[in-house]
Amino acid sequence: METALITGASSGIGATFAEALAARGMNLILVARSGDRLQTLARRLEQTAGIQAIAISQDLAEPNAASSLAQAIDAQGMQVDWLINNAGFGDYGPFAERDRQRQLDMVQLNVLSLVDLTHQFLPAMRDRRSGTIINVSSIAGFQPLPYLSVYAATKSFVLSFSGALWAENKPYGVRVLALCPGPTETQFFDAAKFPDSFQAANSKLATPEDVVQAALKGLEDGVSNVVPGASNQFIVNVPRFLPRDFLLTAVEQRFKAPE
Ligand SMILES: NC(=O)c1ccc[n+]([C@@H]2O[C@H](COP(=O)([O-])OP(=O)(O)OC[C@H]3O[C@@H](n4cnc5c(N)ncnc54)[C@H](OP(=O)(O)O)[C@@H]3O)[C@@H](O)[C@H]2O)c1
Repeated sequence: METALITGASSGIGATFAEALAARGMNLILVARSGDRLQTLARRLEQTAGIQAIAISQDLAEPNAASSLAQAIDAQGMQVDWLINNAGFGDYGPFAERDRQRQLDMVQLNVLSLVDLTHQFLPAMRDRRSGTIINVSSIAGFQPLPYLSVYAATKSFVLSFSGALWAENKPYGVRVLALCPGPTETQFFDAAKFPDSFQAANSKLATPEDVVQAALKGLEDGVSNVVPGASNQFIVNVPRFLPRDFLLTAVEQRFKAPE
């Protein structure tokens, strides 16, 4: 039986990955800060899907969290066959006015922890000539986003990093996928403190189930990245056809909080 490590599994896209992979008969290692929510999900999936699931409460924005996590998993004698680097958050507003530590924590979680976890588990996957890594990026990774400046930059990093790893690791039988969802119905917008008026304008949200199914299809197809949904696929291609400064000015207008 294969085992999947899923970060950010306490809600949203991560919890939905847990459901989908349990339904495929995979054992799970679920990680997030909310230990109680993880435990509840783990016990439920064990009962309904007949798999084994362990819950690890860990703040992945703490430096060295990834190596602590890898050591804890190793100490239990477990092997990670699938790594789903999903934990992440955004922070809406003008960069100069937002909390400094929150921006640094975002880079730590969305980028450094993801790179470290990948480095912890990829070598063994290559040795086994088998493994799967899904890194959750975003359509925000395809261009800079005023008022989500650090977030979009972290997702751009994830998209670039994952593309390179996809090409490097194909010969080793390790699949690497950047999953780039558009707006999806999760706690993301509350966590990022989007203004309510802005959320209402974004009424067409995908479901986490659609996003996860698109990722699993992308793995089967062997592609390097997946953008779920036709409208999102259109959006990520727009920057290729517009002058950059024109685009940035238009995006600034689009992302400015409504008065
Ligand atoms: N929803 C969207 O519109 C959208 C679009 C594109 C990309 N994404 C990306 O999708 C991923 C999942 O987000 P989501 O939409 O499912 O939002 P969500 O419901 O807010 O889930 C975020 C998950 O990350 C975990 N997390 C946050 N900070 C953490 C930390 N310091 N250490 C460990 N875990 C932490 C949260 O758990 P705890 O709070 O329990 O720690 C939660 O399980 C993120 O990378 C996000 O950037 C979302």
